Amino acid sequence: MKKIAIFASGNGSNFQALVDASKNGELQAEVHLLICDNPNAKVIERASQSGIEAFVFMPKTFPEKSAFEEKIVEALTEKEIEFIVLAGYMRLIGHTLLSAYEGKIVNIHPSLLPAFPGKGAIEQALESGRKVTGVTVHYVDEGMDTGPIIAQKAVIITKDETLQSLEQKIHEVEHRLYPETLNKLFAKKE
Ligand code: GRF
Repeated sequence: MKKIAIFASGNGSNFQALVDASKNGELQAEVHLLICDNPNAKVIERASQSGIEAFVFMPKTFPEKSAFEEKIVEALTEKEIEFIVLAGYMRLIGHTLLSAYEGKIVNIHPSLLPAFPGKGAIEQALESGRKVTGVTVHYVDEGMDTGPIIAQKAVIITKDETLQSLEQKIHEVEHRLYPETLNKLFAKKE
């Protein structure tokens, strides 16, 4: 079983889906740690309710990114974390983490990348008038949602779609695609 850490900044519905999938045997990994850069995030409550330890920090209290990323690497090392799963972590990953976990960091993004990278991807897809958007799981590099794509799933945008209905459809797909894709990755021989 892979020992994973999930990084999240907000609600944490993907965190919850992965924790639930791990507990009921659908995800071949154990969630050992939450890394969170926002002390007010709902995901912290979710971690505590699931009995998962959280490393919570405030980026502003550190002089630079490498300083808090060093602390994160310490926390990950202490818990013997093998793989990092980003799930709504609203921050670019820096050199310190990328070099400590080379090829072992993935992210989920609510669009069919390379379309609509960055924030507000669901809204932008809706406003663009396109008929299809979706979800992407990709490896993380130093860019904003630019790493190699691992898996994608399309979501149809209907004529009467609202932001709320589209968000709901996207999240439902995310909650299935993420555990499914991670299982495939973890099943591969290294
Ligand atoms: C998801 O849509 C994910 O694709 C994006 O951030 C959102 C996080 O949602 N990176 P949640 O906090 O997991 O509910």
